[in-house]
Parts: sequence; C-alpha cells; structure tokens
Amino acid sequence: MLQSGLDSPTTEGTGRSHKLAVIGGDGIGPEVTDAALTILDAAQDRFGFTTERTEVPLGADAYLETGDLLTPEAIEVLRSNDTILFGAIGSPRVTPGILERGIILALRAELRQAINLRPVRLYPGVPTPIAGLTPERCDLVVVRENSEGSYVGGGSTVHRGTPGAVATQGSTNTWYAVHRAVDFAFRLAEQRRGKVTLCHKTNVLVEAGALWLDVVEEVAARFPDVEHDYVHVDAMCMHLPVSPERFDVVVTDNLFGDIITDLGAVLQGGLGVAASGNLNIDGSAPSMFEPVHGSAPDIAGKGWANPAGAGLSLALCLASLGEGEAAAAVESATAEVLADLPELSGATMGASTAELGERIASAVTDGHGGVQSSLMTQLAAVQAGLAS
Ligand code: NAD
Ligand code: IPM
Ligand code: MN
Repeated sequence: MLQSGLDSPTTEGTGRSHKLAVIGGDGIGPEVTDAALTILDAAQDRFGFTTERTEVPLGADAYLETGDLLTPEAIEVLRSNDTILFGAIGSPRVTPGILERGIILALRAELRQAINLRPVRLYPGVPTPIAGLTPERCDLVVVRENSEGSYVGGGSTVHRGTPGAVATQGSTNTWYAVHRAVDFAFRLAEQRRGKVTLCHKTNVLVEAGALWLDVVEEVAARFPDVEHDYVHVDAMCMHLPVSPERFDVVVTDNLFGDIITDLGAVLQGGLGVAASGNLNIDGSAPSMFEPVHGSAPDIAGKGWANPAGAGLSLALCLASLGEGEAAAAVESATAEVLADLPELSGATMGASTAELGERIASAVTDGHGGVQSSLMTQLAAVQAGLAS
C-alpha cells in the first residue's frame, strides 16, 4: 500500500528491499502509475524482493491548494529513496510552464538526472502506424541531454500584450553537460551495435552545434570500436519513421530529444507505449522513471490510457536497481500483453488501464513473454562502468 510522504514510511518484509518514491501527478499520471504498481506487486512476489513505497503528492491539486510546486520537504523525501516512479504532470487548470518547469524540470535538475534515456523499440506483434516497419528494424535508444539547452529557462519579455512585444529565449550549452551525455551515449553504444549518431541543427545553431560536434570528436577518440555519424534534427524526423534501422544510439540536445522521442513513440505504437528514465549517473540522488507521454487531460478519468509506457518505465527502474530478472520479466510481459490488443489507446483498446495493469501483472506471475531484454543488461553494464 502507498502512504503519504508526510507520514514516516514503514518497512515491508526483510531481505532485498528498495525504497521507492511514487509521484502519480496529474491526469492519467496516477492511473498509469497505479497500473505500474500492480505490475510491481507481481514482480516482487515472483522475484523475492520488497519495496517500501512512499507517495509524494505533487502536481496541479497540491499547487492549486497550497501554491507549492516542489518544496524542500518533498525534495528531502525523494532524496531519501532509492528510486522514483513518476506518472505525468501538467493540467489545463494551470498556466502552461508553471507545473512543468516548477516540478518536472526542477526535479530533473535538483536530483542531477543528467541523462534522459528513451528507448525506441517496436515489440513483436505490436501494431505500428508506420507501414512495413518490423521489430528487427526498430531498436534504438535516444540519449537526451537532460539539464540544459533551451530548458535552462533564461529569457525575457518586454512590452507583452502590445505589438511591440519582444521575447527572447536562450539556449545554454556547457562542455560539462554535453560531454556527460555524449560519454554516456558512447558507453551505451559499446554495449550495443557500436554506433552513435549525433542529432542537432549545426547548420543554424552554429555555436551550440560546434560545441556538440567538438565533444563528439573528443569522446569518439576514446571509443575506437564505436562508429559515429551526424544527422540534422529536421532530417531525423524523416529518417526515424522511414529507416530507424540506421540508428543504434542517438545522442541529442534536450529540446530535440523531447521532440524526436514523441515521434519515436509513434514508431513503437503510440505515445502510450514509450518509456523513459531520468538517470542520475553520479550516484548523488535517485533516478526517476516515467512514461514519455504527459497527463493527457483529453482522456483522463476514462480508463483509456495505455499503461505500457509506465510498465516499461518500471522495467527500466528495476534494471537500475539491480533487479535484472524482474526488469526483463516486466518488459517481456508488457510486450506480450501489448501484442494482443486490438488498439493501443482509447475506448477501443479492449481493456481499461487498470485491467491492462492486471493482465501484465498476471503475465509477469506466469512467466509469459519471450522478448529478449538486451537494454536492461546493457544499462547495468554502463552503470557498472561509470561506478568503477
Ligand atoms: P500528452 O502526452 O499528455 O498527450 C498527447 C496525446 O496522446 C493525447 O491525445 C493523449 O490522449 C494521448 N496519450 C498520451 N498518453 C497516452 C496513453 N498512455 N495512452 C493513450 N493515449 C495517450 O501531451 P499533451 O496533450 O501535449 O500534454 C498534456 C499535459 O501534459 C500538458 O500539461 C503537458 O505540459 C504535460 N506533459 C507532461 C509530461 C510529463 O509529465 N513528463 C510530458 C508531456 C506533456
Ligand atoms: C517530457 C515532457 C517534458 C519535457 C515537459 C512536460 C517539461 O514533454 O518529459 O517529454 O519537455 O521534457
Ligand atoms: Mn515530451
């Protein structure tokens, strides 16, 4: 059972135990997160570990009630956990940017979650809107720089609301953060098919672009077995649906990574299917795992949200906790249940969000699903390399 972050947590069981903070958030966030927790229950029972779960109530309701976004108390609670499961935040009741910047981006920054890892994998039998696409051709990972670029927030507006209005919004790119992301991408590629693609817009954003190119060349020199190439972000939006097989690890700026991974989600079957991990790679704070989608106010409360993205994010979370077998089982079970659905979202999905959570949980219990889970093992290897 969940308890409020304001209460002191209790320990369930003994043996292998992980402290898990849960932020359901807004809209469909709590719905898909509840489904992920049902899946987690099954994984725990089968693989013999426990979790001590603490709910952290962040989002529109808390903000509208108290004016609070991310309080020092909430940060303290989150820091005291091993990992974080996150649903989604954002609401039509709040001006865009307040919750997104004040909670999601603040969390990623506060907890030094340097990398946003976003796999783009089409699982066998899952319908994709891209004609002719096969699972063999679609298995790549986007390493999105998660702390800066145009997400830093600098900018100003004068004469707002008049024809003389001027808005500026900058982009900050440090060697440190770019290097951290590129180094991670090469380490990951070393465990995979050995290829890194830089995705940027060096033909227009010449300052930031040159920094990214320089860093890639510098890091590439340390990884002679990893090849690298470059694709402009606009061309990426053509290549990704047409020939995803040309990519293994794509490393990119924060904003470009945000955009191309919604497109990547479509390749996988839709926004409801895509998973992500905000990784803290220096061990200073917990990582945070969340589906790529947002709070989807258009379908909230209807039971129409696909919990697969949340389930696959749980798999990444389990892998990062060292529960590799459980991670593989959750990924495999989620993929199997997805493949049986008539549609991947909405009223015609064939089951509600909660029912799908139960179905995936049963598949975890029964040990169904035959998907080979290579990313989970690769992540563990990268993590071990970074720690040494
Ligand atoms: P969205 O991802 O919430 O929804 C886009 C479309 O995809 C909608 O039609 C929605 O119904 C559908 N969709 C999303 N998740 C789905 C799922 N699991 N199953 C089936 N269909 C799904 O994006 P949006 O509408 O642009 O944003 C809504 C709110 O969420 C905004 O406030 C935005 O800022 C916020 N947001 C938050 C996050 C996050 O928490 N990480 C991510 C993206 C957007
Ligand atoms: C995502 C979201 C967030 C982002 C927003 C809501 C801050 O779109 O996680 O993809 O841009 O990173
Ligand atoms: Mn996004």
